[in-house]
Amino acid sequence: MDRAQLKSLLESMTLEEKADQLLQLSSNFFGDDRMLTGPALDFGISEDDVKNAGSVLGVTGAAKIKRLQKIQMENQAHHIPMLFMADVINGYKTAFPIPLAQGASFNPDIAKKGAEIAAREAAVSGLHVTFSPMVDLARDARWGRVMESTGEDKYLNSCFAAAMVSGYQGEPDENGGIKSGKLASCLKHFAAYGAPEGGRDYNNVELSERTLREDYFPSYEACVKAGASLAMTSFNTLNHLPTSANRWLLREVLRNEMGFDGVVISDWASIEELIWHGLAADKKEAAKLAMSAGVDIDMATGCYAANLKELVKNGEISQTLLDEAVMRVLELKNKLGLFENPFKDADETKEEAIILCGAHRKAARDAAAECFVLLENDGILPLSEKNRNLLVAGPFADNGRIVGNWSIFADEKDTVTVKAAFEEICGGCTFISTPDYLADRDMLENEDDIKHWEKTAAEIKKDSERIVQAAKKAETVILTLGEAQDMSGEAHSRTDISIPGWQMSLFRDVIAVNKNVIVLLFTGRPLCVKEIKAYARAVLNVWMPGTEGGHAIADIVFGKKAPSGKLPMSFPYSVGQVPVYYNAFTTGRPHLAKYLDAPGKPLYPFGYGKTYTTFKYSEVTLDKRRLLSGGDCIKASVTVTNTGNMEAMETVQLYIRDVIASAVRPVKELKDFQKVMIKPGESKTVVFEIKEEKLRFYTKDMCYKSEPGAFSVFIGGSSDTNNETVFWLDDEEKTM
Ligand code: GLC
Repeated sequence: MDRAQLKSLLESMTLEEKADQLLQLSSNFFGDDRMLTGPALDFGISEDDVKNAGSVLGVTGAAKIKRLQKIQMENQAHHIPMLFMADVINGYKTAFPIPLAQGASFNPDIAKKGAEIAAREAAVSGLHVTFSPMVDLARDARWGRVMESTGEDKYLNSCFAAAMVSGYQGEPDENGGIKSGKLASCLKHFAAYGAPEGGRDYNNVELSERTLREDYFPSYEACVKAGASLAMTSFNTLNHLPTSANRWLLREVLRNEMGFDGVVISDWASIEELIWHGLAADKKEAAKLAMSAGVDIDMATGCYAANLKELVKNGEISQTLLDEAVMRVLELKNKLGLFENPFKDADETKEEAIILCGAHRKAARDAAAECFVLLENDGILPLSEKNRNLLVAGPFADNGRIVGNWSIFADEKDTVTVKAAFEEICGGCTFISTPDYLADRDMLENEDDIKHWEKTAAEIKKDSERIVQAAKKAETVILTLGEAQDMSGEAHSRTDISIPGWQMSLFRDVIAVNKNVIVLLFTGRPLCVKEIKAYARAVLNVWMPGTEGGHAIADIVFGKKAPSGKLPMSFPYSVGQVPVYYNAFTTGRPHLAKYLDAPGKPLYPFGYGKTYTTFKYSEVTLDKRRLLSGGDCIKASVTVTNTGNMEAMETVQLYIRDVIASAVRPVKELKDFQKVMIKPGESKTVVFEIKEEKLRFYTKDMCYKSEPGAFSVFIGGSSDTNNETVFWLDDEEKTM
C-alpha cells in the first residue's frame, strides 16, 4: 500500500477497530482450533476485541500462523492482517551462544550472522517481528538478564546492537520495506533496565541524566540509527517514573532527539503494571498515562482495548494521538508487505528444509568457539585427541540445556552435548553426569519441592562419589561446572554469584585426588571463581554456548582452534564489589580505592582473555602528537608479535582517557578494537584512527562536545593494559 491508501484505511476504521489495533494478545488466546481461550474476561475485552487484535506474541509455526491469520482476517471488518511477534533472542531453532557470550567474541559480524540465521528460520515459521536486540548496558552480575546483553561497555554494546538490527532486518527494499527472510527488529528495554538497585530484576533505577546519556542511551541510539522498527519500554521505574508512562523518555529522547519513528510497544503488561507502581488508580488511568507518554501497543493486557474508546470519546485522549499510534502500526504491517501477502514467508516446506540445516549449525559452532574466554591455562590445554584416560564429569558433561534461558524455541534434543562431541573424536573418555540444578534449600516451602530437593541432593552425592573414584584413576579430569541454564535470565537475579556450593565441594574432592583438573565454566553471568582460579590448571569460560556447544568446546579443548574471546563484562573478585566495571573513575584517593577484605579491582577485567600462544606488543606510536577538530586524525599503531607456537587471534583494543576535563572522566574508555590472526613468530602492525568525535562527552554544562587538552591512549589485549602514550587536542580558538 502507499501512504494515501493507508490513510484512507485509517479513516475508514471505527474507534473500536483503532483501539484494537493496539491490542497485543498472548498465544493463549488462540488455541489450535482458534477457539477463544485465555483470560478474555479479566482482560475486560470482548470477542470482537480479539477478532480485531492488531498483533499476537508467542505463536509460531508456518501452518498454525497461516491458519490463524486467515481466520483472523476473515473475521476482521477491514481484513487487516495481524503481526506475529516473538522473542527470538539468540537464535530460533538453531541457538547461537547467549548474547553476553557473543559480546565476548568482540566480533559484531558473529551477531549479525546469528541474527540473519535466526530471521531466516523464524520467518519461514511465520514470524514477522522479534523482540531483539536487548541492548541494556549491564554492570551488575547479580542481575539475571546480563546474559541477554553484550556487557558493560557502551561502545561494544553499540557495535553489537547495530549488527543485530542489521542482521534481523537486512537492507530495505526499494520502498523501504523488509525483505523476505527477514524480521522487524525491536530494540529493548527502553531505558536503563540493566541498572536495577541491588541487581534485583524489575527494581527501581536511579541514574543522573548525565550517566544516562553518557553510558546507557548510546546502544539504544545505535539501534535507531541501524533502523530498528520497534522499541520496547522497560519494567523499571527510571528516577521514580515508570518508563511506560515517561513522556520525556519516549517522546522527547527516543523520538525527538534520537529520531525514532517506529512503533513503541510496552513490555509484558507494563501498562497495567502502572497500577502496581502506584502511578495509576485503574486500567483506564494506566491507558491514558501510557498513550500520552507515547506507547503505541499494549502487550498482553486489555488496558488499551477496554479504555481507549471512552478516553477518546470524552476527550481525555485526542483522536490525533490515537490515530498516530494506529498509523505507526499500519505502517509497520505495510513495511513487512502484509497487506499484499499476509503470510509473508510462512512456508512449511522451507521450514523443514532450512531449520537446523548444516550451514546454520556450522555458523553456530564457529560462533561459539569464538565466544569462549580462556581465563587460566598453565599449558595443559589443548589436549591431544589421542588422550587415552580422560574423565569428563559434572552437570554439563552430557547436558543439552546449554542454549540459554531465552532460547525458548530451541529443542534440547537438537543440542550437541560435550559427550556427543567428544565421543566423535576422542576415544577413551569416561563421562559421569550429575544433575545441573539444586535449589537453595532455605527457599523451599512446599513438601513436594523439599522431597525433590532431597532426591536430587542424594543423586548428586552418589554421582559425586563416583566422579571422585574415577578421578583417582584418570590422567586428566575435565569438570564441567557453573550455573544451570535457568539460573540466569528474567527474574533470575542472585545475591551470591559463585559456582553453587555442591559443585565446589565436588571440585575440592576431585582436586584432592587429581591435580590435572580443567574446568569448563558454563554460565549466563560473570561468576566469582577465585578458588577455581587458584587450583584448576585451566579454566575455559564457555558461557551458554548454544546448539553446537559441544562441537565448539571440542574444537577448542583439542586445539583445532585457539580460544580468542575477551570478557565483555568484568568478573568480580567477590559479589561485594558489584557493580564493578573497567571504565570507572579514579576517585580522589586511587591508592585507597579498595576494601578491607578485597581489592578494588575485579578478578578478571573487561577485555581480558588468554589463548594458546603469547603475544608481545610494541609501544604505541602516533604519527603526530597534536589533533585538530574536523576531519583531522591521528594514526595510533602497535606491532603485535606471536611469541608462541600456535596460530591464534588477538583482539587489539584501543582505550582513551581524557586527562583533564570540566567533568570527571573514566580512567579509560574503549574506543575501537581490531581482531588479527597471527601465525607463530609472525608480527602484524595494527593501526587505529583517532578523530575528535571519539573524544566527545557531556561537559560540566551538559554540552556534548570535546574539550582541548591532553589525552592518554592505551593499546593492548585487555582493559588493564598500561601500554600508553599521549596526544593533545588543540584548542580551535588558539590555533585560528
Ligand atoms: C518479557 C521480557 C521482554 C520480552 C517480553 C515478551 O517479560 O521482559 O524482554 O520480550 O516479555 O515475551
